[in-house]
Amino acid sequence: MRMVDIIQKKRNGKELTDEEINFFINGYTKDEIPDYQLSALMMAIYFQGLTPSETATLTQAMVNSGETIDLSAIEGHKVDKHSTGGVGDKVTFIVGPLVASAGVPLAKMSGRGLGHTGGTLDKLESIEGFNIEMTKEQFIENVNTFKIAVAGQTGNLAPADKKLYALRDVTATVDAMPLIAASVMSKKLASGADSIVLDVKTGSGAFMKSLEDSEALATEMVNIGKNLGKNTVAIISDMNQPLGFEVGNANEIKEAVEILKGKNVNDLRKLSLELAAHMTTLAGAFNSYEDAYKQLEENLENGKAFESFRNLVKAQGGNVDMIDDLTKLPDSKHHFEVKAETDGYISEIDAESIGIAAMYLGAGRATKDDQINYGVGISLKKKIGDQVQAGETLVVLNSDIENPTDSIKKVKEAYTISNDKVQPNTLIYKVIK
Ligand code: URA
Repeated sequence: MRMVDIIQKKRNGKELTDEEINFFINGYTKDEIPDYQLSALMMAIYFQGLTPSETATLTQAMVNSGETIDLSAIEGHKVDKHSTGGVGDKVTFIVGPLVASAGVPLAKMSGRGLGHTGGTLDKLESIEGFNIEMTKEQFIENVNTFKIAVAGQTGNLAPADKKLYALRDVTATVDAMPLIAASVMSKKLASGADSIVLDVKTGSGAFMKSLEDSEALATEMVNIGKNLGKNTVAIISDMNQPLGFEVGNANEIKEAVEILKGKNVNDLRKLSLELAAHMTTLAGAFNSYEDAYKQLEENLENGKAFESFRNLVKAQGGNVDMIDDLTKLPDSKHHFEVKAETDGYISEIDAESIGIAAMYLGAGRATKDDQINYGVGISLKKKIGDQVQAGETLVVLNSDIENPTDSIKKVKEAYTISNDKVQPNTLIYKVIK
């Protein structure tokens, strides 16, 4: 088989065989096929696309290129959730305990990464003592005992994707829907869950800005799941403003725990319940999505979901006093209020700008060696659709910097106030099964 023939075939809009797809993924992973040939092929795929069957084969080939996590020692049907990423997304800290409270195991492997705020692991580490490093045996024992554990990602998962993603990044071929879908799903499938629920964000603060693109990506990913025998459901949810009211690390944990203790922050609570209801239904814990939603809502109110989170924190060495009494979580030295300059209604809150403002305060990493400051971040006091009067507080900046002018400027730029009444945003646009 020759790489040049594969490139030509795809360039001419033909369907590649499984052998051809496996050939170029294996060859590229082993450095036997050069970057320039893969670049040409990626560009051909960018223009000609892939059929659902080619996309599934590509995904499986990328899974097979490295290690896969074996969760078979965990009892029950394992579900996982993946979010395409957004600002203020602390859903995992609510969904995980909710799913566990219904007896469904959640073996979560997460990363740190770069971003506006820390990743899942960093946020959890804002709880003093919380340890994400454990042996595989300990991880499995914790999931079997408490139905939930969160560990740092280990192992060389989908190395072909790592290499290809880096190549796509510098050859203008990231934005090809089947390639994005295969990339995301290969990492999820290598993590070993039986079923997957995807939270595909849409809007100004999301990777996919338009609803049309988000739907296309969600459909591609659900099709991959279906073709590879994994139950997959995708929810398309709003990211035209940050999710919930808190953006940072400790303050995001605080907001999540408040919901686990029964508080109703509308968008965050509703999205978490929806995701958890789909996950537990896929796992077979309930007869219907409606039954699942009702029971999980009860578990927020009767304390069972909070108890699951408490078990997680305790089992992983975290200081439970900090979640029993949330005032004990890290806080910043200063709190600056940014106020509205005119009367009106909030019509836009650019999530990206809020995220950047949080990063300027030290809530996220710009380079991988940066230290996260757990206590800093941004608390929104107004969301889209809210009425404001000049002088009312829009956000509070939790800062260790005495005069965070850059963050204040960014936050002011993020907010748009209009004279006309504004409807709150739709939270969930679509569910794709
Ligand atoms: N995120 C991924 O993991 N892969 C892509 O290709 C794009 C975004």
